[in-house]
Amino acid sequence: MAKTITVSYQGSPYYQIEIQEDFSLLHDKLKCLGYGGKKVCIVSDSNVAPLYMEEIKSILTPLFSHCTAFVFEAGESSKNTETVGFVYKHLIQHKFDRKDLLVALGGGVVGDLTGFAAATYLRGIDFIQVPTTLLAQTDSSIGGKTGVDFIQYKNMVGAFYMPKLVYMNISTLKSLPERQFSAGTAELIKHGFIKNRTYTRFIQEQSERIMTQEYAAMEEVIYRSCQIKREVVERDPKELGERALLNFGHTIGHAIEKLSDFSLYHGECVALGMVSAAYLSWRFGSLPETELEILKKTIQNYHLPVKLNGFPHTPEEILSVTKLDKKMESGKVKFILLKNLGEAFITKELTDEEILTGIAYIL
Ligand SMILES: NC(=O)c1ccc[n+]([C@@H]2O[C@H](COP(=O)([O-])OP(=O)(O)OC[C@H]3O[C@@H](n4cnc5c(N)ncnc54)[C@H](O)[C@@H]3O)[C@@H](O)[C@H]2O)c1
Ligand SMILES: [Zn+2]
Repeated sequence: MAKTITVSYQGSPYYQIEIQEDFSLLHDKLKCLGYGGKKVCIVSDSNVAPLYMEEIKSILTPLFSHCTAFVFEAGESSKNTETVGFVYKHLIQHKFDRKDLLVALGGGVVGDLTGFAAATYLRGIDFIQVPTTLLAQTDSSIGGKTGVDFIQYKNMVGAFYMPKLVYMNISTLKSLPERQFSAGTAELIKHGFIKNRTYTRFIQEQSERIMTQEYAAMEEVIYRSCQIKREVVERDPKELGERALLNFGHTIGHAIEKLSDFSLYHGECVALGMVSAAYLSWRFGSLPETELEILKKTIQNYHLPVKLNGFPHTPEEILSVTKLDKKMESGKVKFILLKNLGEAFITKELTDEEILTGIAYIL
């Protein structure tokens, strides 16, 4: 039942993604990687630690010489340099050296922050990802983007730093609140829209099995999404070109996320951003209107929003926040549009007036 994917970096196999239904193989995987006798620090947040920390600790304690945990307050507001500082302090107190290991147990916030701490502590110590949200299992734990927010700027400080292993236990998704699970589906829907028409159809047809977390369907979508993400990051690890396609829906999405003060979830904002970008792809490009409608329907089937009713900000405000985003090149907003469902491209050619019509479409 379980599935394994090998991810290459700079042309050679670098780490494995394990898609499992429990944690039973984690010990052996780490033993094979040669961590026996080293120190390990499990980094997690205040929601995930009470659910899974004891189990992970009991699995890792027999293998490592010293097993410690660092837990921080859950939420994006903890994803900052201050929390990273507390991780460094903890590692110094426990005398961690460069041969020891960090484990990121949690969602994208824990993964990004732990990866960044690992990339920078003693100029880099090993870390593994144990992602526990759907977003983290299909997206953020793969590809080596690590980092934290700085002042009001999201992901402003970071590093490309690869994990040594990504170990997914699909069963952990069962404890996710429904809204959080739903938000996570936005990224896998995105993978289909930008890269694979057949996968898009699968996502359309299987929404019920996925929304009820039927195991075989979950394993299939996580596997397919990880494969798409793997292919993209292997070809373009540092986002010099193709990897930017993964930002489909994120240009407008990030601005909405920020203006909502993170009361809307990342996936919900990405869903709205995808609708906006798909509208622009139809209005100023080649996306057939029927495909715009299919895209909206698919998003709705996963209980994600396609319109922001009563959002207290104008399209102009949203556009100006979009322009503050770091993904700009020479003053132009970089947009990802669709040629059709399954094929995306990058453009810097949209005018402000055109972008505003796309934003107005979701308000
Ligand atoms: N590195 C990348 O390539 C990349 C890609 C996409 C997003 N991200 C980042 O990921 C972050 C969002 O990730 P997220 O949506 O996983 O958020 P998150 O880590 O905040 O997790 C969402 C919530 O679910 C809780 N949670 C996690 N796992 C749980 C479980 N199994 N059961 C119950 N509750 C659980 C968390 O405590 C949190 O409250 C953002 O900071 C974003 O910038 C990074
Ligand atoms: Zn995202």
